[in-house]
Amino acid sequence: MGINLEDIHKSFGLPPTSVLKGINVTVNDGEFVAIVGRSGCGKSTLLYILSTLDQPSSGSVEIDGRLVENMDIGEVHSFRNMQMGFVFQFHHLLPELSVIENVLMPALKRNLAQQKRDNALKLINEFGLSDKINRLPGQLSGGEQQRVAIARALVMGPKYIFADEPTGNLDSTNGDIVMGLFKRFNQEQKTTIIYVTHDPTFASLASRQIHMSDGRII
Ligand SMILES: Nc1ncnc2c1ncn2[C@@H]1O[C@H](COP(=O)(O)OP(=O)(O)OP(=O)(O)O)[C@@H](O)[C@H]1O
Ligand SMILES: [Mg+2]
Repeated sequence: MGINLEDIHKSFGLPPTSVLKGINVTVNDGEFVAIVGRSGCGKSTLLYILSTLDQPSSGSVEIDGRLVENMDIGEVHSFRNMQMGFVFQFHHLLPELSVIENVLMPALKRNLAQQKRDNALKLINEFGLSDKINRLPGQLSGGEQQRVAIARALVMGPKYIFADEPTGNLDSTNGDIVMGLFKRFNQEQKTTIIYVTHDPTFASLASRQIHMSDGRII
């Protein structure tokens, strides 16, 4: 099981510009994969299609043996909420909610906040934020905010984590912390991790690198 893309094309706009030009790739369960390549080559677009956040113009996306195009929208949303965690360059925390409330957000959406509370507290503790649990995001450093975002991505115990430049906005110390957390969850929980990065050092931590150039895997 895992994610399998076959002959994925993606175009934007009118007239259409082709951004992904025939992508074939499989990511197996438990892999730790970096997507690398120059700015504009299609990394984020590929990550969004791998994670069902965007749809291809043509080609098929199969996740855990099922074609996404055959799933109804409710099923896709539920799968995404329960099995996928997302981390972006800018953390997108809700500014009026505390650390614990932000971490529990995916659980709140499913009425599982009570059930997931212990896991949220455990993650917050592991990420060194237990003394900041009631702070608002604006009262945290950038690195701390990104750790909150990662705790939020992990709170449901997802099978997959997708991260677009998760270290792009951090200094190298905080970047190392973030990558260390990913590596640990990959090893201990077998979470499949797929991340986009510009940083060759961070890319080299992956067990496999997908190199892209102009909409293709090279
Ligand atoms: N919604 C959109 N509408 C039109 N063009 C888009 C859209 N999203 C992306 N593109 C174009 O598709 C190309 C690939 O974009 P993408 O964001 O995947 O690149 P990237 O490799 O992630 O780049 P970066 O490293 O700068 O983040 C770019 O030329 C971009 O301008
Ligand atoms: Mg990008």
